[in-house]
Amino acid sequence: MARQQAATSYSPVSSQTHVRATPTSPIEPNGEKVTEQVNGTPTGDSSDLPVPQPRPTPDDADAPEHTAPEHTARTPADAARSETRRRTPLATIIRAQEKIFVDRQPESAKLAKLASGSLAGGVVSSWQISRPQPVWLSHGQGSKIYDVDGNEYVDLHGGYGVSLAGHGHPAIVEAVQAQVARGTHFAQPTETALAAATELARRFGLPQWRFANSGTEATMDAVHLMRAITGRDLIIKVEGCYHGHHDSVQVSVCPDEDDVDRGPADRPNSVPSSTGIPAAITDLTLIVGFNDLDAVRRRLEENPGKVAGMILEPIMMNAGIIKPDPGYLAGLKELLHAHGALLTFDEVKTGLTAGPGGATRVTGVIPDIVCLAKAIGGGVAVAAVGGTAEVMAHVANGDYEMVGTFNGNPLAMAACRAMLTQVATPEAYERLEKLRLRAVEGLEREIERNNLNAQVVSVGAKGCVVFSATPVRNFRDFLEIRDSYSHAHWLFQHNGGVFLPPWGKIEQWLISVQHDEADIDQFIANFAAFASAVRGAA
Ligand SMILES: Cc1ncc(COP(=O)(O)O)c(C=O)c1O
Repeated sequence: MARQQAATSYSPVSSQTHVRATPTSPIEPNGEKVTEQVNGTPTGDSSDLPVPQPRPTPDDADAPEHTAPEHTARTPADAARSETRRRTPLATIIRAQEKIFVDRQPESAKLAKLASGSLAGGVVSSWQISRPQPVWLSHGQGSKIYDVDGNEYVDLHGGYGVSLAGHGHPAIVEAVQAQVARGTHFAQPTETALAAATELARRFGLPQWRFANSGTEATMDAVHLMRAITGRDLIIKVEGCYHGHHDSVQVSVCPDEDDVDRGPADRPNSVPSSTGIPAAITDLTLIVGFNDLDAVRRRLEENPGKVAGMILEPIMMNAGIIKPDPGYLAGLKELLHAHGALLTFDEVKTGLTAGPGGATRVTGVIPDIVCLAKAIGGGVAVAAVGGTAEVMAHVANGDYEMVGTFNGNPLAMAACRAMLTQVATPEAYERLEKLRLRAVEGLEREIERNNLNAQVVSVGAKGCVVFSATPVRNFRDFLEIRDSYSHAHWLFQHNGGVFLPPWGKIEQWLISVQHDEADIDQFIANFAAFASAVRGAA
């Protein structure tokens, strides 16, 4: 099975979620000193909480006794410099960091306990169950978010890739406030929807658009459309890509080494990624490796006239960040079209974050269908599906009924229009690029200084540290990466006042238009502390 079994995944099934191990940070989130030593009593055990606790991944549980320098310093910079320490096993570092984490968040623990009474699993989405305990937030402002214990964080989590605008952006606040006073729902078209669609068409080079409410809805409509247009049932999907939680794409999202059914790399099997997915649907989704054009060719040739199309993240962002090889995306389009099949880019994550026109513009390959969600709503739930004139004619003429009560909801459209016209501006992208470069340079400097087997991969506002010395080209390569380092890094950042998305090596940072140099420098300083602590363990 997929994510819930994968050592690397964030699991959609709460009872099977993973924990990542945790390192020890010598600093409080606000940068103040704490008295806890790195290898102080590593309790960090939150098993008394009623919320489902992620279990350690095999990676974490069996973390070899790598050694890392003990912290004697009390700030990230000191820690990075400190040369006087004894080696501490990574697993110990992680446990001690988890203790610091839990000690700082008693209110979160209380709420988690209370919530388990009325919220299934104590959270509102299963991927909010992360080790050592879910973090309950009170509010956000600008580039910062605040937990219920009063801790401040530089928000690089970005709500899993949504918060490109940051929090409380004046343009979004004004647009939403104005619309709230004028009615939040009509189920009739409004001029804001037209303005948003026109701007998306300009950015992505696809003429026609419809709106929905989540990435899942967008990719579901895309798959339906490919099937409706071609009259074929099979689709091709990339192993390790996540496209939401509808049946057709809940296949081989995160099949790991323990998964006997996953098949060879050049011919992966179709593995259901959740319970509740009928085998009859799973069998309609053919799986290929990312960057493997030949595998797609084989699938098409073996199933003549049966493949409706292919859906993929043009830049993979549910396995760290994996970029397409030169020519891969253009090759896919050519190949699929030669077989009468369609190409869908799932740009739910890359959308406005990879650049103003997403990966579509970055790579120069315009697919038949683009799916957007997350960042396009400025923090409000919006999704969009764009298509060529030929594709969208099937929607316009009623052949495929793309429907939804809340589609193009005026509140969401007001936020989306403001995002597109006032927030994600050319100046904002210039600023984001400067911050990206600052982050990448800082992290690479620390990687080199501490001789870590790691590399920084970034695209636009998104980036991640991949704890591997060799390039990662597909999901099988990605599975080889030990997750403990990513989890340790996450904990160091968290305890040092920078909130990265949980789930270790899978997720990426998101820099918002409201972040500044100081935020990035705090991120780098925490990384320096982490790198110094785990030096020699990588
Ligand atoms: C690439 C991609 N597609 C689709 C989705 C599903 O989006 P949503 O959670 O809004 O349904 C996600 C969510 O993380 C995603 O990363």
